[in-house]
Order: sequence, then structure tokens, then C-alpha cells
Amino acid sequence: MRSLLFVPGDSERKLEKGFSAGADLVIVDLEDSVAPGNKALARALAPDVIRARRAGGPLVYVRVNDHATGLTDEDLAAIVPARPDGIMLPKSVNGADVQHLSTKLRVAEIENGLPDGGIRIIPIITETALATLSTATYPNAGQRLAGLTWGAEDLSAAIGARTPRDEHKRYTDVFRYARAVTLLAASAADVPAIDTVFIDFRDLDGLRRECAEAERDGFTAKMAIHPAQVPVINEVFTPAAEAVAHAQALVSAFAAAGNPGVVGIDGRMYDIPHLKRAERLLARARAAGVVA
Ligand code: COA
Ligand code: MG
Repeated sequence: MRSLLFVPGDSERKLEKGFSAGADLVIVDLEDSVAPGNKALARALAPDVIRARRAGGPLVYVRVNDHATGLTDEDLAAIVPARPDGIMLPKSVNGADVQHLSTKLRVAEIENGLPDGGIRIIPIITETALATLSTATYPNAGQRLAGLTWGAEDLSAAIGARTPRDEHKRYTDVFRYARAVTLLAASAADVPAIDTVFIDFRDLDGLRRECAEAERDGFTAKMAIHPAQVPVINEVFTPAAEAVAHAQALVSAFAAAGNPGVVGIDGRMYDIPHLKRAERLLARARAAGVVA
């Protein structure tokens, strides 16, 4: 999973376009991109869209409205029968919020004759101040957890920041903190870290820079808000041929030496953390279909 494309759930046109954009995962949004008056329309459109997905096509998640809105149950009642691959939970405060949603999903799966635990969860874990301070709780959030992602726009509104970025378009400290704790929480929970959206959707160079920094730092995917962002994200999060070749050489060198703790290649030392990194990169390359 490299790219996750948001599609507003009340737009038939975008729902149609979203599935052919080349994203690994489509997020049908019932939350912030859908005005209160259109929630019912989005709930009515989403199930058919989920049912119409094809084998080999993108995974389908639905972003529901958060627990505090009182709308979550109606969202779930509408979409669980169509069996989405997962739910994106916005404004998640801590691991207990994910467990709360898991329990609701368990009941809904039983009521709909679906396998227990089939519907996964990706929470957005930094949309409020308390949430951002509580990210260490996700390692205990349960088996449905499929990744962690973060949000800067809602957090900036929550804390009263005028913008999350400085005059050079770099995130300011609070947002860099939120980004960093997302990486740490994802590693601690052993799930993918997914970078947040880049909202200047005409600035593909800026997007590419942000993807490259995210990939460098340990994110393995990024969310998109426009179809044009998807090819850039897929490209940057697909391990490059050179990196794959280097990882393969490293794994082979360890194997050829009888898996010692350390090997030397071309005058550089490589030990177990380097081997782990190489194995992770090869797993991502396999998932992206660029190595067998
Ligand atoms: N999914 C599917 N199709 C999309 C899309 C999306 N996220 N964003 C744009 N498109 C479609 C448009 O409908 C348009 O198709 P058309 O010409 O056949 O009508 C085409 O792609 C080009 O769109 P463009 O004119 O460049 O952008 P726009 O002004 O129509 O839309 C946004 C801009 C930001 C409103 C739109 O990209 C969008 O709704 N993004 C998702 C927002 C969202 O879900 N936010 C919540 C998460 S933060
Ligand atoms: Mg939001």
C-alpha cells in the first residue's frame, strides 16, 4: 500500500473517477469533505460503490464520522453490509477509540454474517491536542489495526495555529512533532506509517519533495486528495531499482557468510539493523510488484 486516495462520498462523478486513478486504496469519505446536509446522500451512494469494486482493483476504506459526532453508528449501519476492506477513523483520541470501533464492527460483522475481524481500521491519530499526546496507546489497539496516519489541518484548527507551515512551507514544531510521533507509534504497533495529505494539489513538485522526505523518514505510504497526486506518490513509495539491488546484495552477502552479525561490503560495515532495513525494503518492493 503506497497511495490512499480520498474521494468525497457525496460525489458520484468523483467516486467513479477515484477508482480508476491508480491508487492502492480508495477512501470513500463520509466525514469532513461531505457537508452535514449531504451525509445521507453519501451513505446511500457508498455501499454500491464498495460492492462494485473489482478483484485486483484498489482496496476500499470508508472514513466515517468520529465517535463524538453521534453519526458513526448510522455510517456503519449503511456501509458494513457492503463489506469494505476497512474503516478510517478520524479524530481518534487513543487506542481505546480503535477498540471501541472494533467492538462496533464485531457486532456489525456478526449481524451481517461476515467473518469476525475482516474489516480493518486505520485511525488518524493527531487531529486534536490530547490525541497527539496519546499516540503511545496504539500498540494495544488490537488486531484490526492496519496502519496509522496523522492530520495537520484539524490539529492546527484545534490548537489555534493560523497555519501548520512556515514561510518556507515547512511544518512548524507542533506538526513536526505530530508527524514524528506517528512514525514512532506505527513502529511500536508494527503497522505501516502513512503520511498525511498535501493540500496544494496543483503543486506536484512540492508533493514529490514531501513524498521523498516521508519515504526517507520511514513512512511507506501517503494519502492523496486528487487523482493527479497518485502517480507521484506511487512512484516515490515504490523502492527504486538501485535500492532494491543494494538490498538484495546485502541479504545475499549475509546468507553467503552464514548469517553472521556483521559483514563488510565495498569497505563499509553492515550489521543486523542494516539487514532488517534491507528486508523491509524488499518486502515493500514485493508488495509493489517490482520484485518477485
Ligand atoms: N477523487 C476522484 N476524482 C477527483 C478527485 C478525487 N479526490 N478530485 C478531483 N477529481 C476529479 C474532478 O471531479 C475532475 O473531474 P471532471 O473534470 O471529470 O469533473 C478532475 O478530477 C479534475 O479535478 P480538478 O478540476 O483538478 O479539481 P476540482 O476543483 O474539481 O477539485 C478538490 C478539487 C480539492 C475539491 C477535489 O480534488 C476533492 O474533492 N478532493 C478530495 C477532498 C477530500 O476528500 N478531502 C478530505 C480529506 S482531507
Ligand atoms: Mg479533517
